[in-house]
Amino acid sequence: MAFRTFVGWPLGLISSRARRISAALVLLPLCTLATVGPASAQQHASEAAGIHQTVRGTNDTWWKHAVIYEIYPRSFQDSNGDGIGDLNGITQRLDYLKDLGIDAIWITPMYPSPQVDFGYDIADYTAIDPQYGTMADFDRLMKEAKARDIRVIMDFVPNHTSDQHPWFIESRSSRTNPKRDWYIWRDGKGPGQPPNNWLSWFGHSAWRFDAKTGQFYYHHFYPEQPDLNWRNPEVRKAMYNVLRFWLDRGVAGFRLDAVSRLFEDPNLHDDPLLPGTNAYGDQNIEHKYTDNLPEVHEVLREIRQVVDAYPGNPVLISEADEPNISELTKMYGSKLDEIQLPMDFQVADVNQRCAACFRELIDQIDDNPVGGQPYFFFNNHDQDRTWDRYGDGVHNDAIARLLAALLLTTRATPQLYYGEEIGMVTTPPTRKEDVKDPIGKIGWPKEKGRDGERTPMQWDASTNAGFTASPTPWLPIPTSYKQRNVAIEKEDPDSLLNFYKQLIRLRRNQPALRNGQQTSVDCHDSDVLSYLRKNPASGESVLIVLNLSNQSKKVAFDLKHLGINGASAKPLLTHPKSSPTQIPLNAVPLSPFSTLVAAVE
Ligand code: GLC
Repeated sequence: MAFRTFVGWPLGLISSRARRISAALVLLPLCTLATVGPASAQQHASEAAGIHQTVRGTNDTWWKHAVIYEIYPRSFQDSNGDGIGDLNGITQRLDYLKDLGIDAIWITPMYPSPQVDFGYDIADYTAIDPQYGTMADFDRLMKEAKARDIRVIMDFVPNHTSDQHPWFIESRSSRTNPKRDWYIWRDGKGPGQPPNNWLSWFGHSAWRFDAKTGQFYYHHFYPEQPDLNWRNPEVRKAMYNVLRFWLDRGVAGFRLDAVSRLFEDPNLHDDPLLPGTNAYGDQNIEHKYTDNLPEVHEVLREIRQVVDAYPGNPVLISEADEPNISELTKMYGSKLDEIQLPMDFQVADVNQRCAACFRELIDQIDDNPVGGQPYFFFNNHDQDRTWDRYGDGVHNDAIARLLAALLLTTRATPQLYYGEEIGMVTTPPTRKEDVKDPIGKIGWPKEKGRDGERTPMQWDASTNAGFTASPTPWLPIPTSYKQRNVAIEKEDPDSLLNFYKQLIRLRRNQPALRNGQQTSVDCHDSDVLSYLRKNPASGESVLIVLNLSNQSKKVAFDLKHLGINGASAKPLLTHPKSSPTQIPLNAVPLSPFSTLVAAVE
């Protein structure tokens, strides 16, 4: 399949993000032949300020070394035959995750919910939706995960609740209800006219009229997801208690959903108009007055204080689809007192096999001025799988390995999404009547929604891929399951699954990959992405060379300025498999889309 654009998310928003990213790429300098040297002045300043941060890449906090795996519980494993995945299903598959080398799982919401946004519309933050199990099932999952040294990270959705949450039911009951101010209620501009032009991320006006009290409420996402009012101290208190509830049950941290959307301009200025229309037919706007308001950072600091009061270094991961490095850097907090791991959407969404693009972005985040730990991922439940976004339709398996190597050999904390390790493909619905994700109904056919990347995990070649005993899984099983499944790939030493496993083991066991500093090399090559990881203590070094092009190449490396004087590299992992035990550094042969991970001295 040819390159597909990023269709898993509203088109207008994505293209504006892509525009901002490419602008950044033009403006920023290409990597230089920097040497791996002592900590920067900035780091010394951080240390002097009492920030617990050692030389980059050497701090031993668990989340710097963890391989994190995102689970969409509805689609991972069904244990009770109702066609929907559940918590006991996850527990059943922990041995698989352990064997893969996973250190922590992030489970997307499994709280009680009407499931309009498949769990991101929460009706009770401190319970389990019966379709996913019980609190006893959750506790058992925690216990079994702990027995395998796997941490559990919860999804925390602070921006909005379900319209079925008791808080909102109270809030909408009258203008004088004590919970009225827990949400954003405003008068319309005139009869039938919303307060301003703000648009929902999911299409059309972000305001919904509520006839009972004659006012509009604000919803950044679906109308069934009213936004909480984070300027109300009672809301903050209640939400921080939600965090404590789960921390008390032993969770290792949270992935914070849509955090940049917590605040809106209190003066309700109209957003600036942009040319063109989005997938839903609305005039495009810049979400200037509803996204990334400075108060977000005050809340992030407060959330950090809540989790920091618990032992074991709980982690905060933010969904931060920030447009450039300076916005992304802000997520860490100027004193590293906000988010430890802001997701780097810029790297995830390069959406081209472009060595220069990756190099720029990787170097920028590696060199972020506050010394924050980078966090990379390529797949998640909101966007087309990389198989389709990066594949060329012919070499998809080799390209998947290039991305796996990139994900698992930089110093960024890596996150996988279930199924990427076996090469699952995006399988969007072909008929509007089959669509489950509401944005696919609103935006059809331009926007088909996110069902395509949420199809059930492919465990084996039996009926319904071993996901469920029900004849009707909640989403259809992609036809690729007969060849691409865990059971088959487990037995094949050359499978993508075993390639991921080997990479994860290398990451864990090679001191250079575990703790090494990172330097881009061969900076002007537009086809081949290469970088060196070097352990500052032992000097052990690993060179990663990724040929992102469909051309055979021969590349030469001179790494003396990085303290590498040896003339050859010893392959640790390659694709395609290669036999030489040593490769001369002055003539490294690379076949199209090949991966080389090699020790150098
Ligand atoms: C986040 C989630 C997405 C959800 C949205 C609204 O972006 O990743 O799945 O629809 O927030 O909660």
